[in-house]
Amino acid sequence: MRGSITLTNIGQLVTNDPERDGTLGIVENAAVSIENGLVAWVGHAADAPEAAVTHDCAGSAVLPGFVDPHTHLVFAGDRADEFGRRLRGESYEQIMAAGGGIQSTVSATRAATLGELTDAALGRLRRVQAAGTTTVEVKSGYGLDLEHEKRLLAVAAAAGSAVALDVVPTFLGAHAVSDEFAGDADGYIDYLAEAVLPECAPLARFCDVFCDEGVFTVDQSRRVLEAGKKHGLIPRLHANQLGYSGGARLAVEVGAISADHLDHIDDDDIAALHAAGTVAVLLPGVSFSLRLPQPRARDLWEAGVTVALGTDCNPGTSNIETMPFVIALACLEMGLTPEQAVWSATRGGALALGLEDRGQVAVGAQGDLTVLGHESYVHLAYRPDAPAVRKVVKRGLVVAG
Ligand code: NIG
Ligand code: FE
Repeated sequence: MRGSITLTNIGQLVTNDPERDGTLGIVENAAVSIENGLVAWVGHAADAPEAAVTHDCAGSAVLPGFVDPHTHLVFAGDRADEFGRRLRGESYEQIMAAGGGIQSTVSATRAATLGELTDAALGRLRRVQAAGTTTVEVKSGYGLDLEHEKRLLAVAAAAGSAVALDVVPTFLGAHAVSDEFAGDADGYIDYLAEAVLPECAPLARFCDVFCDEGVFTVDQSRRVLEAGKKHGLIPRLHANQLGYSGGARLAVEVGAISADHLDHIDDDDIAALHAAGTVAVLLPGVSFSLRLPQPRARDLWEAGVTVALGTDCNPGTSNIETMPFVIALACLEMGLTPEQAVWSATRGGALALGLEDRGQVAVGAQGDLTVLGHESYVHLAYRPDAPAVRKVVKRGLVVAG
């Protein structure tokens, strides 16, 4: 599916084009032409070429479509009960140790029919798309055995094509130790490497692992990621979310494309991520929802690390689906500037997924655009509860609004 459209009368166009000025390469009074799904022309509206299909943006701001590089959005059930328990004083780790947390979503997800799981994923993807996301990473990880991990990856792919949004699949079999292997994390890793990865790898692009205190150790995580590599999967990982777990250093060691969360990192970790070119995927909805301190976003940015923002959409730690809200949190809670937050939610997300062709409005890039209902991208943080997105264009076709 590829379309052709020209957007005119754009008050403020965010291009993220390094050839233009500033972090966001802003063009004012702009137009963009998309031909056959790809950006064909970018410039001032007065110079725009003639086009058969045009859309007048009435002075609004236009951004590259958001790229959300970290979600767990295929799941069944709800964890509102645990959320309430946390607000009454229990911690995420206490609830997890008592058999709640990820395991309770695994039970609900395994019990759901294929239709129920697909409908739930479709509903989320439609809301994600209406809020301006045009590419989204989706992890497995609530199946924890061959049959159910495969099913989650298949549902993610099917739901993505139904909604005209690019879904990038990640295998996260090592999200928790399954009940069948309780107390035997090493045995579970062997099972993943020998029985699950060979069949799931063709359905995924990345291999992820929850490397953290009380979950998988650095050694166990390394084994999963190396096994994933043998099957052609690019490593990325949940790193240093719950403690100084060594996950960020493991990301550097195995050549992971990204290290995600990074709530507990020191200056040496930041330097190591920078030297390796590992993208730091920050998830402000998690610390917000858990009422914990936010990661060192400004320090990472100022050290030259490539920063991306994601929703981490999941039923436990961040029941948040939309990138405009994440941008608001990144500015208001994490201390990024609006320019840093918008870049990280577009180009940063694309780089975290190895997708050089998006997150940018430049000739040859994918024709994925988000038209805001505001005149400036700053309003995403300034008016965090206002409907942010008016129209969404995917490969030159209007898919929402
Ligand atoms: O990214 N950290 C691990 N996984 C999710 C939480 C999953 C859950 O609680 O269901 C996260 O925060
Ligand atoms: Fe996550």
